[in-house]
Amino acid sequence: MSATSPVRPVLPPDIRARKGGTPLVVLTAYSTPVARLVDAHCDIVLVGDSVGMVIHGLPSTLGVTMEMMILHGRAVVRGAQKAMPVIDMPFGSYEEGPKQAFRNAARLMAETGAPAVKLEGGQHMAETIAFLTARGVPVMAHVGLTPQSVNTLGGYKVVGRAEEAEKVMADARAVEGAGAFSVVLEKVPEGLASRITQALTIPTIGIGAGVRCDGQVLVVDDMLGLFTDFRPKFVKRYAELGKAADEAIAAYAAEVRSRAFPAAEHSFADDVPVKT
Ligand code: KIV
Repeated sequence: MSATSPVRPVLPPDIRARKGGTPLVVLTAYSTPVARLVDAHCDIVLVGDSVGMVIHGLPSTLGVTMEMMILHGRAVVRGAQKAMPVIDMPFGSYEEGPKQAFRNAARLMAETGAPAVKLEGGQHMAETIAFLTARGVPVMAHVGLTPQSVNTLGGYKVVGRAEEAEKVMADARAVEGAGAFSVVLEKVPEGLASRITQALTIPTIGIGAGVRCDGQVLVVDDMLGLFTDFRPKFVKRYAELGKAADEAIAAYAAEVRSRAFPAAEHSFADDVPVKT
């Protein structure tokens, strides 16, 4: 599957039709090899703007650019044959209004080959989501904790406790009404996430939102133990690849210093014996 392939095997209406069925499995990816691994097991591969923190060492997602999303998006689309790629719209690429959002969403889709974008925000983004969906841009919405608003939210907090709950519910209803084909619920209390899941006709994809969402998403580097700068409570580590890589690199360094590497089997003889 490439940016020039006409139709992908899984498209937003297929994801929408999965409401209430077997949970949707979603992971992020930022490169072709990881996209291939994710593709074998997942329904959606998200090119999250978490790429800024996980791959580029940025302190938040705010410094992520369109160019970064396009470069990583292209790499992921090359590796995803069956899972549906979704590309995050970076901070500053859609908040000005529907026309700016359309221009940049169209660029993300045209230049990567991904069939959908994701953007953060609820009621205040409804007009933009409606504008995009009416013009051929399928939108996955993202409510609850929206990391691009970390400075106005005052940190990476749980969003939706007490009186905040009805605002998150209204956000979810607004993005559904605007035409989003699914919605990410991030760091939302599990009871509220369950109520939202029951109230909506589009799939909810939870991250730190409990088990009753229509699907789950994690950042792949978090669940593989590759990104260890910090670990949110909602992350389950399914592997410790960072530790395994550290041990492998330490072994290589020791063998280079002791001249145990390269051995004869990794080296080239000066003369190849002539066969008689
Ligand atoms: O950027 C990202 O990876 C995300 C997921 C965590 C939902 O938005």
